[in-house]
Amino acid sequence: MIMTVTARGSAVFGAALLLLGTAALATPAAAQGQLTVYCSVQEEWCRPMVAAFEKETGIKVSMTRKSSGETYAQIKAESANPKGDIWWGGTGDPHQQAAEEGLTEEYKSPKLSELNDWAVRQWEQTKGRTVGVYSGALGFAYNTKLLAEKKLAEPKCWADLLDPKLKDEVQVADPNSSGTSYTMLATIVQIMGEQKGFDYLKALHKNINQYTKSGAAPAKATSLGETTVGIAFLHDHVTMIVEGAPMKAVAPCEGTGYEIGSMSIIKGAKNLDNAKKWYDWALTPAAQALGAQAKSYQVPSNKATPVPPQAPKLADIKLIDFNFAKYGSSEERRRLLAKWDAEVKNQPK
Ligand code: F6P
Repeated sequence: MIMTVTARGSAVFGAALLLLGTAALATPAAAQGQLTVYCSVQEEWCRPMVAAFEKETGIKVSMTRKSSGETYAQIKAESANPKGDIWWGGTGDPHQQAAEEGLTEEYKSPKLSELNDWAVRQWEQTKGRTVGVYSGALGFAYNTKLLAEKKLAEPKCWADLLDPKLKDEVQVADPNSSGTSYTMLATIVQIMGEQKGFDYLKALHKNINQYTKSGAAPAKATSLGETTVGIAFLHDHVTMIVEGAPMKAVAPCEGTGYEIGSMSIIKGAKNLDNAKKWYDWALTPAAQALGAQAKSYQVPSNKATPVPPQAPKLADIKLIDFNFAKYGSSEERRRLLAKWDAEVKNQPK
């Protein structure tokens, strides 16, 4: 009798185990937990990053793609009850602002020693709250067909973009939402000085057909012939050129600024251990090589990640000595954006 009960009991237990096993096999990710990633590069790069990380770790990732300034605003708005765990990509300035405002966590990755100096400097400057993941220079591009059709001269310098013949022919993002456009604002102010820089931006306003939300959108619009000139990071123009767009990318003759694309762990992250796993993984050469596969041609921060041959060669570009500490500081960023809203964006054309 006892034997029978035991035998039946084992069978039931065995079936339960089998069921459990099946459930675990069906949802391996759930067993490893979750991670919410705020991604500020192109969607085409965000998605393969998420897929590769899920495959490697079994962690289930929920990802939202937004521009750099927009993501900063979201993290700030959610700070009383954080919903995101890690913010990967986007220009360094709003990451720095978030660090200064205590919206992100300190973390020292074991991968730090493998990174280029510029990436480590970003980490040091923010007392360990953000780290460089890639770099790239700002510039513009023109649609070669439209330029020829409209019989316009080839723009080579920032100054050339003020040509009255380019009225409504230039596109750039809004610096409030876009880190690309904030990089341009800070670049122009550093090259020309604040007064002359704002005079330039006001004059440029007359030629702007649209301030887009995302920084790379003007590169896409240039490729499609929706605008003659687009201002964006040079690597975003190269993506379009590699895809066959009739475009030429230009590193402006006066010199140009650049970004240190960054990554930060969000303060109060609900999945802190998994956020650290993403952080360490995203600094590996294998993860960073996914950028070039997704036709994103930034310069990766890990010294061992091959630099894609298509990546604009920073050594050949006249780069300004960009003051990241100043232009990424909370006060300066807020001040310049408010000034741009008041003196540039809201002006009649
Ligand atoms: O992924 C393209 C890219 O240009 C990055 O290099 C950069 O950090 C990011 O987009 C900036 O996007 P946005 O200007 O929309 O904030």
